[in-house]
Amino acid sequence: MPGSVLPEREFRFHDRQPDLPDAMAEVVTGLSRSAKTVPPKYFYDATGSRLFDDITRLPEYYLTRTEVGIMRENREDMARAVGDRACLVEYGSGSSEKIRILLEACRPAAYVPVDISRAHLLQSARAIYEDYDWLAVHPTCADYSRPFALPDIASALPCVAFFPGSSIGNFDPADVPGFLAAVGAVVGRGGRLIVGVDAKKDADVLHAAYNDGAGVTEAFNLNLLKHLNDLLDADFDPARFEHQAEYNPARGRIEMYLASTATQSVRLNGAEIAFDTGERIHTESSYKYDPDEFLELAGAAGFVQQRMWTDERGYFMVLLLEYAG
Ligand code: AVI
Repeated sequence: MPGSVLPEREFRFHDRQPDLPDAMAEVVTGLSRSAKTVPPKYFYDATGSRLFDDITRLPEYYLTRTEVGIMRENREDMARAVGDRACLVEYGSGSSEKIRILLEACRPAAYVPVDISRAHLLQSARAIYEDYDWLAVHPTCADYSRPFALPDIASALPCVAFFPGSSIGNFDPADVPGFLAAVGAVVGRGGRLIVGVDAKKDADVLHAAYNDGAGVTEAFNLNLLKHLNDLLDADFDPARFEHQAEYNPARGRIEMYLASTATQSVRLNGAEIAFDTGERIHTESSYKYDPDEFLELAGAAGFVQQRMWTDERGYFMVLLLEYAG
């Protein structure tokens, strides 16, 4: 049970990164399917994390700007929901920029940023530790789309979960209740989750956000192949693939692909993966939700809405949910 004595302030790294053989098996399995897939977590090596930060500053990528605006405008309300002395667990913390908005308005005892990109995580978490001299920081390198163990600090304090950026949109909807139920187990009955969700909107706006004029999203998508080369000793030639992103209105999602521009075969740990010209690897889905659609998924996991904050165009929503168990 969470106790009332505050733990000592410290900076401690917790490594829960999946093993290489697991990654190899996962990627080979996805590329051996008739419709080839690679999970989006493989975007995030050091270069991919930096490219994603660049994406968040693009004029076409309204998501981050809009969410940050919503958070700034409502930060006192959000901070009240977090309260003082809690353990704030952020899923997919990236550069840990948004958490700063909350940290200016409330005083949790500990911050547990969870991210798969180790170097980026450590650098961002260290900056938070230095800038907030009252906060314990426990960076945790993990693939949060699968079960992983949080550091002990999370069971020593009441937890509040923070999942911004509409990264929940990168889950298949069928997997959302399972993931949120795991978050519910972390925060406990009556515990809270603040989650950012991108809304359905004009397809042209969505298309532009994932096909920016500067080509940063293209570089981000293609970098996945370089990451696989480094991580798994594969021999993808990124010059022989092209970025594609399109909105699928029937499924309410942006689909990102890497399409082979040639008939070719790629070596990956002894396996040969053959590509026809035009054959695609599905690298990411980014689901967009109407509020009711998302609340239904959250409800299936035992979460109920307490508040919903949005922007004047209704482009993005930040929800405060409570776990009813
Ligand atoms: C991290 N995630 C919410 C981003 C998104 O919009 O789905 C990843 C991204 N993919 C292309 N641009 C940004």
